[in-house]
Amino acid sequence: MIEIAAVFGSPRRKGNTSTLLNHAVTGARDAGASVTEIVLRDLKMSPCLEIYGCKKAGQCVIKDDYGEIEQMLQRIDGLMLASPIFFYTVSAHTKILMDRCNSLWVKKYWIEKHPFGQKTYPRKGLFISVGSTKGKRLFDGALLSVKYFMDALDMELWKSLLFRGIETEGQIKETPASLKAAYDAGKDLVQALSDGDRLDDDQGFPDDP
Ligand SMILES: Cc1cc2nc3c(=O)[nH]c(=O)nc-3n(C[C@H](O)[C@H](O)[C@H](O)COP(=O)(O)O)c2cc1C
Repeated sequence: MIEIAAVFGSPRRKGNTSTLLNHAVTGARDAGASVTEIVLRDLKMSPCLEIYGCKKAGQCVIKDDYGEIEQMLQRIDGLMLASPIFFYTVSAHTKILMDRCNSLWVKKYWIEKHPFGQKTYPRKGLFISVGSTKGKRLFDGALLSVKYFMDALDMELWKSLLFRGIETEGQIKETPASLKAAYDAGKDLVQALSDGDRLDDDQGFPDDP
């Protein structure tokens, strides 16, 4: 069975990205996947302390809730990550998780000595994001962070669902097409993982919808 982790990166429990991710989770479950939900605001997770204890065994040495997440992130086939845009990048909750995953970057590149410039990945990730403004470059910062975060997890940024002009809690529900897009993306991710298909890295970032 395909195993997916769904990471809720917003401080709002019923906010826009959480609503979208819930639809993606339903889509993935309807397609037969086992989905574990991780709500970052409920976890006790220190920021990375940059002590590089992970250099020994590719495992973070800070004892908190990240330990279990670190194990899970190495097991799963796919990831669905949802974060609002906060100052042109992901939320602090999300960024803390990303930085802690530097233990997996260290494992991959320093301990296992994988070469840089990987073109194909065994795993896939979906990124969902929302911002209140409408600028062309609204998602640029977050997309770069997510792409290289997923690379550390040996995962390609398979698809991103990005919605502009959404601010108040639950406002995303006023656009049912976005909820359907999230549901479909969850379903399609499972299909893509089952098929083992992949995007050509040369395509760069997926287009904004
Ligand atoms: C601390 C903070 C920083 C934000 N920074 C931005 C920003 O840089 N650009 C933007 O368009 N919206 C920004 N927003 C608005 C949120 O992205 C927007 O309200 C979004 O819908 C929240 O999603 P959520 O309900 O999933 O948390 C910010 C909101 C907060 C609280």
